[in-house]
Amino acid sequence: MQITKTNALHGTVRVPGDKSISHRAIMFGAISHGLTEVTGFLQGADCLSTISCFQKMGIEIRNEKKKVMIYGKGLHGLSAPSSILDAGNSGTTTRLISGILAGQSFESIITGDASIQKRPMGRIFTPLSLMGAAFFSHHNNNCAPFTITGGSLKGIHYDSPVASAQVKSSILLAGLYADGKTSVTEPYLSRNHTELMLKGFGADITSENTTAVICPEPKLTGQKIQVPGDISSAAYFIAAGLMIPGSEILIENAGINPTRNGILTAAKRMGADISYLNQRTVSGEPVADLLITSCSLKAAEISGDLIPALIDEIPVIAVMAAFADGTTVIKDAQELKVKESDRIAAVTENLKAMGADVTPTDDGMIIRGGKPLCGTKINTYMDHRIAMAFAVAGMAAEGTTTFSDASCIDISYPEFFKDMASLVR
Ligand code: S3P
Repeated sequence: MQITKTNALHGTVRVPGDKSISHRAIMFGAISHGLTEVTGFLQGADCLSTISCFQKMGIEIRNEKKKVMIYGKGLHGLSAPSSILDAGNSGTTTRLISGILAGQSFESIITGDASIQKRPMGRIFTPLSLMGAAFFSHHNNNCAPFTITGGSLKGIHYDSPVASAQVKSSILLAGLYADGKTSVTEPYLSRNHTELMLKGFGADITSENTTAVICPEPKLTGQKIQVPGDISSAAYFIAAGLMIPGSEILIENAGINPTRNGILTAAKRMGADISYLNQRTVSGEPVADLLITSCSLKAAEISGDLIPALIDEIPVIAVMAAFADGTTVIKDAQELKVKESDRIAAVTENLKAMGADVTPTDDGMIIRGGKPLCGTKINTYMDHRIAMAFAVAGMAAEGTTTFSDASCIDISYPEFFKDMASLVR
């Protein structure tokens, strides 16, 4: 794939289904009674890993592409996996499934690709062990592969040191199997799709401020879930539409859940005027069509409680900042170091290679915007969000941008280049 400077973007795009919501629809459907039907499911590699893990535990799942059918067997209907569960590249699969497996009477082993085998799992081992499960990390490094020995769990209150929906959701799912209430408090509120969707399946779950509370052993019933478009995928179109002069694009059906829509807040701080059209609620999630008109961007500070609401969008926000006027400071985002790649290193190295003035910090980066950027060979570190963020950078830069390997885009957006190309006239 080669990218050169692009003319104005025009037209309408529908981004694929939300990755976080797609994972949860499969998982919650599998542990509910009866049929769950999912439309708008993200057919990306991560969500397909979740499907295959539950199939290995005896759940019938029919993926007809336009619709996914999950024949749930209830909270206690899973069987011991037929082989090692492979989460591929997916942290959400690894951490959320672990919460469910903590409550099973069988032992299971989870592994994943080279990136997953480096990501910290101690953050779920600690609370799930306090509840009564046992973990054995095969390389003794608190990473995958690991064995989970489930058992009878007790309800706990956990003060999470990180604002992580994966940690929160893992504990809440284990809480379904505990002997009493389980609650989690996080430093800042992370995405709340688990809370919204599990309630829809019949769980007794409440939240107040940054605490979520769940009661055990509900009767969960299969649902019809319509997955909204992924704001994290929409982010690349938002950035490209704002940065490339003369552009006007409509992004249809984007999820705008306030715990996820930090990219829209960041864009506003940077001077963008994005219109939300046709606002509605779909399967309990707020959705809108977003009208993006190009504008000149200015620097902003991105920090604090905004970080969890845009954590996956920081690579593309950094690209916007490199084209913006002034100095953008991104801080409180040390979580970037433990994503699919070390995103502080990957973003700053690639931005520098394109000619940007950027300094990595321990918890983010400082970007002095406005220097002319020039295409180069981008090292994607096999991280889908790095590849897509720098595809957008390449569309606004002089010269030609190429990639070490952009096949990682299949993790969350297999049709990314085709959809982007459809807007170029
Ligand atoms: C996700 C939560 C976030 C996010 C990831 C998906 C989820 O991770 O970065 O892409 O679906 O719960 P953390 O919970 O680790 O912050």
